Amino acid sequence: MTDLFFNPLDEGYVANPFPHLAEMREHLPVQQTLAGPWAVFRNADVTRLLREPGLSVDPAMADGPETERDRMFLEIHNGELPPPSTSILDVDPPDHTRLRRLVSKAFTPRAIEALRPMIQDLVDQQLDIMAEQGTVDVVDHLAFPLPFDVITKMLGMPAGDTDSLRTWGEQLVRTLDPIVDEQTLRDAAIADVKMDEHITGVIEWKRENPGDDLLTALIDVEEDGDRLTTTELRDQVGLLFIAGHETTVNLIGTGIYELLRNPEQLALWRDDESVGPGAIDELLRYVTPVQFSRRISIAPIRFGDVEIPEKAFVLAGLASANRDPEFWGDDADSLDLTRSNASQHMSFGNGIHYCLGASLAKMEGQVAIHSFIKRFPNATEASEPHWNGRINLRGLEKLPLRLT
Ligand code: HEM
Repeated sequence: MTDLFFNPLDEGYVANPFPHLAEMREHLPVQQTLAGPWAVFRNADVTRLLREPGLSVDPAMADGPETERDRMFLEIHNGELPPPSTSILDVDPPDHTRLRRLVSKAFTPRAIEALRPMIQDLVDQQLDIMAEQGTVDVVDHLAFPLPFDVITKMLGMPAGDTDSLRTWGEQLVRTLDPIVDEQTLRDAAIADVKMDEHITGVIEWKRENPGDDLLTALIDVEEDGDRLTTTELRDQVGLLFIAGHETTVNLIGTGIYELLRNPEQLALWRDDESVGPGAIDELLRYVTPVQFSRRISIAPIRFGDVEIPEKAFVLAGLASANRDPEFWGDDADSLDLTRSNASQHMSFGNGIHYCLGASLAKMEGQVAIHSFIKRFPNATEASEPHWNGRINLRGLEKLPLRLT
């Protein structure tokens, strides 16, 4: 019986989760996982879960799974729990509506398009460095530094401290996995405090050194009639910083890897620019850089003959929805850059929490991957890639390539 339950700890799951997710869709599409949270795996159910009004994203609305995390925090921080997160990913309307409106001012299509030359420059610089080396790890040289530099520049954060920020970000996002061990929680509790202290310091520095950047714009909003409190400001900056790079790295790294494994698709995009916009959507569908989102049931919610109780964490299987043949047809497991409905993928979620950085992420992915395959058409794997071991923000930690 346990074979039927979602078990991402299975050997080989992170390298290829899709056969296991297909089993879940087929045999137990709505289930309480052995780790506690509920989960839905079919495209129609995932869509409904994310869109249905009356569900929450606020962890305080749930019973159970947060208890262990709280216990760890109490132990590490001398009996004090941190205040609940006010990041837009963790709050419901009306707070969500107010905060999202303020933050989204910086994400207009025109503001994002204006970043294109900077993104192309950063990519070209990295490709030049790579060209000198012959054999390189494309994650270390392109997939990670590009989104990291873009969000750092966009926010107007000071240069430096990259290593600490990278480590704290990694430790924090590991807690997004459906199953988390004690050491991971312990590391994240410490990283959380360090990241908050760091961002608070950056905000103070930025007050003295304003610029033409997102952080200055958000500070101005805070000071303009107290519509964004200092805590709210800190939490939005933390979210933007982490969401801005820990996700896109997986699109670029795993995207290049999948193209190398599908050389006819790579050649198609390399030789025909017009495939571009659809190609990045299809890669987003195919790799699903964030494999799960989540909601909390306020009241019992029924999917077919299964009722999920109130106050339950429910995982939305985005990666599974992106490969559901009921929605995509029999070739759901094939990479097809010309797929006409690829933009209906679930990789950016759905409903009111739909990813605020979607256009930015698509632009970064498109510029980075397309420039890479144009510049290094003969790239091949130099040695085995390393997966990052993450169930949710699944991606490659290392992708060593021979470029010529
Ligand atoms: C390939 C890259 C990315 C992927 C796959 C991704 C995916 C997601 C997903 C799945 C959600 C949650 C949606 C839901 O629960 O319904 C989300 C929310 C969010 N993302 Fe992204 N994201 C990416 C890049 C970015 C970037 C570059 C930024 C900002 C610079 C960003 C900022 C946000 C924010 C602020 C939210 C919260 C929105 C809300 O709660 O209203 N993301 N993203």
